Amino acid sequence: MTTGRFISLEGVDGAGKSSHVGWIADWLRRRGHDVVVTREPGGTDIGEKLRRLILGNPMRIETEALLMFAARQEHVCEVIRPALSTGRWVVSDRFTDASYAYQGAGRGLSAERIAVLEDWVLEGLKPDLTLIFDVPLELARTRLAASQAEWDRFEREGEAFFDRVRKAYHDRARTDPGRVRLIDSSRPMDIIRVELEVILSRL
Ligand code: TYD
Repeated sequence: MTTGRFISLEGVDGAGKSSHVGWIADWLRRRGHDVVVTREPGGTDIGEKLRRLILGNPMRIETEALLMFAARQEHVCEVIRPALSTGRWVVSDRFTDASYAYQGAGRGLSAERIAVLEDWVLEGLKPDLTLIFDVPLELARTRLAASQAEWDRFEREGEAFFDRVRKAYHDRARTDPGRVRLIDSSRPMDIIRVELEVILSRL
């Protein structure tokens, strides 16, 4: 039986990842793949309800992490695994790397605790490819300011928070180079897309 591939997109808020999600899905579809586009937190009815809860309400760090993984449990069981097992490809706007970057490095929850949740909920499932869109924080802030009127409670975090998140993403790219690719997202869109085509072709 054919198994689909799983691609996740990551980056600090304002790094520009969301503008590539649809493009990547279309590029894969043109090559004959059946593609599911999804996002985290979210991707299911329960997940989208949890997303509104998480993004809109201050809470303890532990609660935030548990709710992220509760949403992820639904997402993995209801959407991602069924799609992959029937040969469909999955493109997800964020996945578990975001928990290590935001709840771990950003908020200060230990990586060991996040790893416990990862083992429990994912049982070894990892993306085949993770693209981290990386920009200097100043540029991320400028892009965010231009893109939307209201910021959620993550987007309202300060520079020190995003500096830690960005560094955590760099670390994850360094320690898992077979899966994680760091994309310099400060370059023009067409140049980035040439690089994405090369990476996706290899997959
Ligand atoms: P985001 O992709 O930025 O949504 P949008 O582009 O619509 O604003 O995701 C929402 C936020 O959720 C983002 O600030 C990062 C945060 N997040 C975590 O903190 N941990 C996680 O595990 C995930 C998946 C997201």
